[in-house]
Amino acid sequence: MAFFFFALSIFLYLGFEFPEGYPAPAAAAQEGVKITYGSVIKLMHERTKFRLHSHDVPYGSGSGQQSVTGFPNVDDSNSYWIVKSAPDSSARQGDVIPNGTIIRLQHMRTRKWLHSHLHASPISGNLEVSCFGRDGQSDTGDLWRLEIEGSGKTWRQDQKIRLRHVDTGGYLHSHDKKYSRIAGGQQEVCGVRDKRPDNVWLATEGVYLPINASK
Ligand SMILES: *[C@@H]1O[C@H](CO)[C@@H](O)[C@H](O)[C@H]1NC(C)=O
Repeated sequence: MAFFFFALSIFLYLGFEFPEGYPAPAAAAQEGVKITYGSVIKLMHERTKFRLHSHDVPYGSGSGQQSVTGFPNVDDSNSYWIVKSAPDSSARQGDVIPNGTIIRLQHMRTRKWLHSHLHASPISGNLEVSCFGRDGQSDTGDLWRLEIEGSGKTWRQDQKIRLRHVDTGGYLHSHDKKYSRIAGGQQEVCGVRDKRPDNVWLATEGVYLPINASK
C-alpha cells in the first residue's frame, strides 16, 4: 500500500502516463465512489458525453491561452484532470469534497489549471475557458465552486455536478458547437452564467484515491 502511494505521488509529480502495473483507471461510474483530492479523473459532459479536454494548442482568439475543448473519444490521456484544493485550503490528499467547496482542476499532461475570465469564447462568444499557469503559479481565475445536484453532501462519482467559476460566476458549459479546423470534431467548452442542463458534468474514468481516514 505504501509503495502504491509512493508510486502514485511520483507519477503525479512527474506527470507520467499510467505506467505498466499501475492499477487500470476505473472505466465506468461506480456507485458510491467518492471523489477525493489528488484523484485523477475525466469529466463527462452529461448531455453530449464528450470529455473535458485540453492540449498544447493555443486559442487563435481571445486570450491566446491553451485551449480547452470537449473531446468525443473516451480514450485520450489529454482528458485527465487532477482534483486539487484551493491554495488557502487546509484539505489534504485523500480528503472528501463537500458540496460548495472551491476546488481547482489541474490538467495532467500540461500541468496547467482549468481557468476562465472575461475573454469571449471562440464560437459562441460566451466566457472563454482556458488552461493557464503552472505548478506553484495559480490565481483566482483557477477557482471553481462545486455544486452537487440532488442529494448527498460530498462529491460521489454517480452524482451530477456543476462547476461554477468564482471570478465570473460562469458555469463550466459545453454544447454541440464544433470546431472545424485545428480541433476538428471537438466541441466548444465555455462559461455560461445561467444554470442550464448543458452545465452538468459527471466524473467518469480515472484513478480515485482512497479516502484519507486519519484526521
Ligand atoms: C449544493 O449547493 C448548491 C448551492 O451552492 C445547492 O443548490 C444544492 O442543492 C446543493 N446540493 C446538495 C446535494 O445539497
